[in-house]
Amino acid sequence: MIGVRLSRPAMWLTGITFTLAACGIGAPSPPIQVPVPSAAAEAATGFDNRSNGAVNDSIHQTDQAAFDEVEESADGLGPLYNAQSCRECHQNPTSGGASQITELRVGHLGPDGRFRNADIPIARGTVVISGRTLVNDRAICPSAALPDSEIQERVPDTETIRTTRASLNLLGDGLVEAVADETLIEIARVQRRTTRGTIRGQALYVPILEAPGETRIGRFGWKDQHASLLSFSADAYLNEMGITSRLLLDEVTTLCNSVSEPNNTTGADGLADIDRFARFLRATKAPARDTVLAATPAARRGSELFDAIGCATCHVRTLATAAAGTVLNGGTDTIPPALGEKTFHPFGDFLLHNVGTGDGIVMAMPEHYGPAVYKVLWREFSIDSVGRTRNKMRTAPLWGVRLRPRLMHDGASLTLRDAVVRHRGEASGVSRSFGKLPRSDQEAIIAFLQSL
Ligand code: HEC
Ligand code: HEC
Repeated sequence: MIGVRLSRPAMWLTGITFTLAACGIGAPSPPIQVPVPSAAAEAATGFDNRSNGAVNDSIHQTDQAAFDEVEESADGLGPLYNAQSCRECHQNPTSGGASQITELRVGHLGPDGRFRNADIPIARGTVVISGRTLVNDRAICPSAALPDSEIQERVPDTETIRTTRASLNLLGDGLVEAVADETLIEIARVQRRTTRGTIRGQALYVPILEAPGETRIGRFGWKDQHASLLSFSADAYLNEMGITSRLLLDEVTTLCNSVSEPNNTTGADGLADIDRFARFLRATKAPARDTVLAATPAARRGSELFDAIGCATCHVRTLATAAAGTVLNGGTDTIPPALGEKTFHPFGDFLLHNVGTGDGIVMAMPEHYGPAVYKVLWREFSIDSVGRTRNKMRTAPLWGVRLRPRLMHDGASLTLRDAVVRHRGEASGVSRSFGKLPRSDQEAIIAFLQSL
């Protein structure tokens, strides 16, 4: 079932309306609720490194070992890279979580005023890296074998649009992948209808690398650049670690490179590292709440206010996955029983919004989908739609936010209050409503956020 219905539990509606009326706040946009199939069960949560049931625990531990593994240049690391293992950036409080590590993304405007990917000269200016917005912070040379090679990337003065991007939480992402496209499209429709177009999440079709020509609604990454965890794993392996795989065959540069392509090949069990990363992520449990804080009167009141003033229009409380057996990702993947018809609480809609924080960067297609992206006709993929995301960011899913001391895409907001009051654009009205609440009600919302 994919319909989306709006309702506010009558239980607390009266009390909140009174409070809001008392402080002169207009009609808030109601929280969006996705009706849940009657058979649906709550998804498992926890930080215990155990499988959610998609695979058994011993397979899950082996997959985690691949995710944690530190790679060297002999394994194909680099030539340009950001870190030596997935865990280096996805570790808090355990493998698959987020971290304080941020990355650099840059670009510039062309003469027509449109965004252009960065051009980064390396090797004393003899080679220019193009088709990307990511600037890799590390390189494998100069080294003992190549003492005179210089390939370090750095931001040239000409790349005037610049941002940092925070590492994201991955725990529970198997559930996000198992949400039907129709659910996300319907959330966007209900947002537009109930807020008269003020809040209008953008659902973006993106290529599925393992199914050339097929697309799905993007849900992973700050710009919703991927819909499949296998596609994202191949992207991260190449762009974060410089390791090529069957899905992304070309190194960013071959200078200093000594390992043949693809660096990562399929093992005796028929799996490459990217398959293990995807299987690991699909079996992770969702972040668990702080149940002690969640039970306090302040957090409970904050939870009601969060819905009442319209935070939950974007930070959608509950989503449900499609049924077990549903085929995903262009026919390459099937939802297992452990992930089918599960409800979970991401506090996000996985759609793109302009909340006034946009970093001005359009996702670089060759970087995420490989140079072949232009040779394949991807169903529903629209370069214009990608262009419209320039100043939008995906609603940050708030599950596990208490474990992230640096907030927003750039990691520049250091308190929850700072992050909330920074919302503008589509969230201006909601942000104003927050500002008009009595201090104690604002504190209640913060207490609620601290329980997530
Ligand atoms: C140098 C740090 C770093 C390393 C290493 C790294 N990541 Fe990430 N990861 C990030 C950042 C930053 C983002 C957000 C990227 C963006 O959207 O701009 C991210 C996002 C993701 C996402 C999207 C999560 C979501 O819910 O939206 C996935 C999946 C992911 N990484 C998987 C991996 C895998 C698998 C590896 C190892 C192959 C890996 N990452 C290595 C920093 C890193
Ligand atoms: C129009 C949609 C929308 C509304 C309404 C909205 N948010 Fe957000 N929220 C976002 C987006 C998009 C981001 C990410 C922005 C960025 O990173 O630049 C975000 C980020 C956040 C973050 C930072 C989380 C992190 O992990 O970095 C917090 C906290 C937050 N919102 C709380 C709230 C609260 C509380 C309200 C209600 C007062 C609210 N938001 C209303 C869309 C919305």
